[in-house]
Amino acid sequence: MQLLKDKILTDGRLLDGYVLKVDNFLNHQLDVGLLDAMGAEFARRFAGVQVDKILTVEASGIAVAVMAARHFGNVPVVFAKKTESLTLDKDAYESDVYSFTKQKTYRVRVSRRYLSAGEKVLIVDDFLANGHAACGLIDIVRQAGAEVAGVGIVIEKGFQSGRALIEEAGVSRVESLAILKSIAEGKIEFA
Ligand code: G4P
Ligand code: NA
Ligand code: NA
Repeated sequence: MQLLKDKILTDGRLLDGYVLKVDNFLNHQLDVGLLDAMGAEFARRFAGVQVDKILTVEASGIAVAVMAARHFGNVPVVFAKKTESLTLDKDAYESDVYSFTKQKTYRVRVSRRYLSAGEKVLIVDDFLANGHAACGLIDIVRQAGAEVAGVGIVIEKGFQSGRALIEEAGVSRVESLAILKSIAEGKIEFA
């Protein structure tokens, strides 16, 4: 998506060689016009795919999911909650996610009320790096007896293994609006 790539080049900042900071439009301040265009682009790419609900994970995925939902006929958006608590909640589907960036495991949970068997669920998120967050959401969708319609990502770090992990989980439909081929030596290259 050219508009997004241009924005990454003008407003993205590289940290420590492998982290792309996009706080100016995606992770802190939000560019609503751009988010809306991203939503339209997801709808275009998933045209013909049945989507009953969009699932993401708090916090940064929420804005992406909400704006996308506007372009999928205002389907409901559900966001998985992250919790420090290890207390098992019988009313929730849960999955453990290892964050490579943060070097720790956290748990994501979705109430059983908001995912139902047979639903076709589109998973969206802001970043795809190692794919653990996306796979946690795939796990939760399947626990509910629902079906993953696809995975929509704003920025994929194509030099990390996230896409392969999602495909290994049996989801073939992965659409990323911008794929980074390399962010080495302070230079951003797209795939
Ligand atoms: P994974 O889920 O793909 O395995 O990724 P990883 O553990 O590496 O990433 C953990 C968090 O860092 C995620 O956000 C992910 O979106 C984000 N992230 C990964 N690489 C980058 C990057 O280069 N730039 C930015 N800006 N973010 C990146 P989070 O902390 O779990 O969530 P949130 O509260 O921001 O939504
Ligand atoms: Na995220
Ligand atoms: Na993030």
